[in-house]
Amino acid sequence: MKRHKVFVTRTLPVDPLEICGNGIDVEVFAQDRSPTTDELQAGIQGATGLVSLLTDPIDGALLGANPSLRIVANVAVGYNNIDVEVATQKGIWVTNTPDVLTEATADGTWALILAAARRLGEGERILRSGQFTGWSPTLLLGKELRGATLGIFGFGRIGQAVARRAVGFGMQILYHSRSAIPEEITQPLGARLVSKEELLSSSDILTIHCPLTNETHHTFDGAAFATMKKGSILINTARGPVVDEEALVQALTNGHLTSAGLDVFEHEPAVNKDLLEMPNVVLLPHMGSATIEGRIDMGEKVLINIRT
Ligand code: NAP
Ligand code: GLV
Repeated sequence: MKRHKVFVTRTLPVDPLEICGNGIDVEVFAQDRSPTTDELQAGIQGATGLVSLLTDPIDGALLGANPSLRIVANVAVGYNNIDVEVATQKGIWVTNTPDVLTEATADGTWALILAAARRLGEGERILRSGQFTGWSPTLLLGKELRGATLGIFGFGRIGQAVARRAVGFGMQILYHSRSAIPEEITQPLGARLVSKEELLSSSDILTIHCPLTNETHHTFDGAAFATMKKGSILINTARGPVVDEEALVQALTNGHLTSAGLDVFEHEPAVNKDLLEMPNVVLLPHMGSATIEGRIDMGEKVLINIRT
């Protein structure tokens, strides 16, 4: 029987051999960094399967580099790093790891919502730099969440999990997606489908949960920020390029937006220098799904995808 080779681009928190089984030769890229294009090309030679990360660009050239490649299994929900159209033309399966990181990413989103609304980063920096001189009635006043409106752009798995948590905070929930979500899901949340314009103009906190596609690229541009409610807060744990970062800097600089909480960046891993200098912005290094449990489940899911 032919033995299959699988090339894995990074060490995963699970043993690939245990899950793939004995009939598969697994080669894990030896360095703790993304492989270069040449290293990727070399790694997939003779491979039937490729386990990729969201940081690995899997473009048409790479997909064409090895005719025996049958599956690209991405360790992520998002698969915007893969040219799915070319893969489909070549009969190569593309899989992702939805569901297992929904709750972790919703928690991560809420960490950013609370940090941005209640100015936690500013508070910690003041304290650590020895500038805390005692309780003050005017120190770092933030935004009360009870009664505020949470706008959710993209109401899929993670958007809905974020909404479930918002019920406990007593928030009003609006959402925008291209399709309406069944009432049995929206009614207990009190979530209402609105146009993009209404979402922008009515939300006190707007959180992004759509995939990155040609359609969503720079959805949040200068015009969108101008439509957003004055004093509102933007949260992004989806993908950086959904937001035009220069336009976001403008909206934060002119005070139209009060703050932002970002886990993802337009030119990741580079972060806009202006954002880095803004005290009212909370910045995280793409760690929305970073729980031990979630990452183990992602690793298992991706290898089950390969084996199947
Ligand atoms: P999902 O279940 O597929 O939900 C995506 C939602 O976006 C759907 O409701 C979809 O509904 C909506 N959508 C798609 N295109 C849209 C458009 N043009 N305008 C408005 N809404 C649109 O995906 P998910 O599991 O919630 O994950 C969402 C994204 O989060 C992933 O694609 C990934 O990029 C990101 N993510 C980030 C992290 C992190 O660590 N920061 C972790 C996990 C996932 P319609 O198709 O009906 O519009
Ligand atoms: C993380 O960003 C993912 O898409 O899983």
